[in-house]
Amino acid sequence: MTTKKRVAILISGRGSNLRALVEAARAPGYPAEIVAVISNRPEAKGLAWAKEQGIPAHVLDHTLFESREHFEAQLGALLGSARADLVALAGFMRIMTPEFVESWRDRMLNIHPSLLPAFRGLKTHERALHAGVRITGCTVHLVRPEMDEGPILGQAAVPVTEGDTPETLAARVLEAEHRLYPHVLALLAKDQIKVNGDVVKIFAPAAEGTALFSPGL
Ligand code: GRF
Repeated sequence: MTTKKRVAILISGRGSNLRALVEAARAPGYPAEIVAVISNRPEAKGLAWAKEQGIPAHVLDHTLFESREHFEAQLGALLGSARADLVALAGFMRIMTPEFVESWRDRMLNIHPSLLPAFRGLKTHERALHAGVRITGCTVHLVRPEMDEGPILGQAAVPVTEGDTPETLAARVLEAEHRLYPHVLALLAKDQIKVNGDVVKIFAPAAEGTALFSPGL
């Protein structure tokens, strides 16, 4: 068997995507292993969960560092000592310097709760409802210096339903996130995703079906 890719997960909060990734990685055939969890917030729920699971979990409290560069130097050291091949951001709420991002070019990915390039930034579900879209979703993409930019590796479409609030919509999208992120991470870890500049080629079966209709047919 080929060796598994070593993945570090960066979080700031709840950690439900972290959990989905860790649980997926427990399957014997999964091509990646989670070797470290790092949170910039000591109180992050995901951090406590990771500790309970016996995963090496580290706090890197950004408020204790005098600059972003000092914080990132420590982050880089932690990732180095974990011998991480890939970094998965999962609700990590810190902006990183272009230098740090570039040092992980094509090896750092993120999940965003919208169909990028629509609704970059925060409060995506509130804005999707305000815009009146009938389909939204989530995106896994490579991280580039510009926030929520970067080559798209995978997306899941989720219908908006009548009477949705930002909370009900967020919950529906989150379920899709928990399935999409482990799937895309596995494709990347198995080298079934090739990136050339900003062009992505995916060597995996195409999505089933032809269209998602909302409202339904
Ligand atoms: C998710 O909605 C993710 O798309 C966004 O931040 C949220 C993190 O949630 N980047 P969790 O901490 O994984 O539960």
